[in-house]
Amino acid sequence: MDKIQHDYSEPLAMLVEKGERMLLQIGHKSPHAAKADGIYDDMRLDWWTAGFWPGILWILYDVTGKEQFKEAAWSWDEKLESKMMQANNFHHDVGFQFLPTAVIKHKLTADSDALRRGLFAANFLAGRYNIAGRFLRAWNQDKRGWSIVDSTMNLSLLFWAAEASDDPRFTHIAKAHADTVVERFIREDGSVCHIVSFDPETGEYLGAIGGQGAGPDSAWSRGAAWALYGMANAYRYTGDGKYLRASQRVAHFFLANLPSDDVPHWDFRASESLNGEPRDSSAGACAASGLLELATLLPDNEGSIYLRAAERILMSLHHNYATWHLPTHEAILLQATGHRPAGENVDVSLIYGDYFFVEAIAKLNGWNNRIF
Ligand code: GLY
Repeated sequence: MDKIQHDYSEPLAMLVEKGERMLLQIGHKSPHAAKADGIYDDMRLDWWTAGFWPGILWILYDVTGKEQFKEAAWSWDEKLESKMMQANNFHHDVGFQFLPTAVIKHKLTADSDALRRGLFAANFLAGRYNIAGRFLRAWNQDKRGWSIVDSTMNLSLLFWAAEASDDPRFTHIAKAHADTVVERFIREDGSVCHIVSFDPETGEYLGAIGGQGAGPDSAWSRGAAWALYGMANAYRYTGDGKYLRASQRVAHFFLANLPSDDVPHWDFRASESLNGEPRDSSAGACAASGLLELATLLPDNEGSIYLRAAERILMSLHHNYATWHLPTHEAILLQATGHRPAGENVDVSLIYGDYFFVEAIAKLNGWNNRIF
């Protein structure tokens, strides 16, 4: 990666201080969204976001060595495993849940139970693969032929499991799904659709569905962030240049459509002018961390464009969207959007935005125990 030109120790120090306060404020909650009152909710453990708060704690532990972060993070993978043994609604997002809990715990502490839990989750994810359509199934209930761009990020669990168990089956499945993302989700112009529907029996492509984006032909910005980052990871694990080019194509679309303050609207095609459309700071944070990944995968002269773009997004989040001035606020970033078409969690704080901001700032300070 090209040289990082600035000193990012100040935002990292602010995050560590903030994290110490969040420890007291959040306690045993499983935070997902915080509305205007600044109080994080307490979601059920099989909700897709359950890994992000412990993920923040593990990263803060890794960069500071402070035991309080490790102690608070320690039991999360066990809690998720317990939930998996009961009636539950786990699905394609077990990567988001087990990478920042079991996998990072094993990476940092060599805990053998954490390894077992990570592999258990990877087997669960692999079991969702539809051979006829070459995709990982999204959600449960009646959506048997649906796949979503978010799962591009969950592929890291499969790639990790292939290495951890020395079993290439996980890589075969991850690559097959990644190929489907390249063929069916990422358009020629680098924009991305959220949901693709296949016939679950024959695997036939049926069409795109808007989902959390404005419509089937729109450009949901967090979906773009998932694709940009997930494709960069697929390239890192496989060395296959088609994933690198896919990540770059999405990155170019993403960067070309950013507003003047570098933090995206929730959908780049939400409306003609985008005036008054809500932002999604979580898409900005996730994309920035993915851009840093891209920068590490390319020679300096090519990677620096992504590094500089990531720095711009992160500094805008740091200066314009963070809660530094609101000490009682339990979240880190403001102005995230969860599901605009459903009217859910618009202009709130979202724990995954906080996670990817912490992850990206840690990377700018040399942290490299990456799990995605
Ligand atoms: N994975 C669901 C979302 O991005 O909102």
